[in-house]
Amino acid sequence: MDIIQAIQQRRSIREFTKKRIPANVLKTILECGLQAPSSKNSNPWFFVVTKGKTKNQIAAWIEENAKSRLVRGPTDARTGKMAEGAFDSTAESVTTIRSAFAYIIVFNRGPLSGGKDEVLKNPRGGRSLYTYMGEIIGIGAAVQNILLAAKSFGLGAVYMADSYPAREAVQKALNTKAEMVGSIAIGYPAYSPKPRKIEKRLVTTWETAKKKGIRMDNFTAMRF
Ligand SMILES: Cc1cc2nc3c(=O)[nH]c(=O)nc-3n(C[C@H](O)[C@H](O)[C@H](O)COP(=O)(O)O)c2cc1C
Repeated sequence: MDIIQAIQQRRSIREFTKKRIPANVLKTILECGLQAPSSKNSNPWFFVVTKGKTKNQIAAWIEENAKSRLVRGPTDARTGKMAEGAFDSTAESVTTIRSAFAYIIVFNRGPLSGGKDEVLKNPRGGRSLYTYMGEIIGIGAAVQNILLAAKSFGLGAVYMADSYPAREAVQKALNTKAEMVGSIAIGYPAYSPKPRKIEKRLVTTWETAKKKGIRMDNFTAMRF
């Protein structure tokens, strides 16, 4: 499969068969993550691979802690309430993690910004806000490399922010201050969805943007 096909056909996969992923395949996929570009070549990521009981323990932490209203999301930053059109996907994500062969925890080491807590010390974000954004963009690139490498091996995967409710338990268990930004469930797909429709109006030229502006629609969540 060439890279363009992998990009065009990749979908988030949330249910997996019991087939095991060979160790060398998983290793190659993770190394594709490490190949991603990052600000100042800072390699802000850190990946921890879990399987079996450990993976299911994390799913249980998510399930347990998501019961608390404080960590339910996504919320609208302006009102603190569940964003309009949004839905809580935690329960589905827990089922996905249980079904996956492996579950990869994605950390930001914060090599440039010092991490989220450092950014929050400055009410206006300061310089560290931009370096933090750079870290997260690099991690996004690494995640996408992993998703596409998985696709090219005939595997399925999904990136999940829904790991958030387990972040403190994970940090404590691994005795780390590194920030858990998300996670990836991966395995052989139990189904094959069609390629997703893309929103072509979200790309334009400079001239058209000057004339018609940039689309600024509010939160638009679509059920998957
Ligand atoms: C930052 C981010 C967070 C996401 N969090 C979740 C999640 O917690 N649970 C989930 O099932 N999917 C999650 N997804 C996957 C999106 O729902 C999915 O990419 C989107 O619906 C588009 O579908 P597609 O990936 O099949 O093209 C997340 C994706 C991103 C980029």
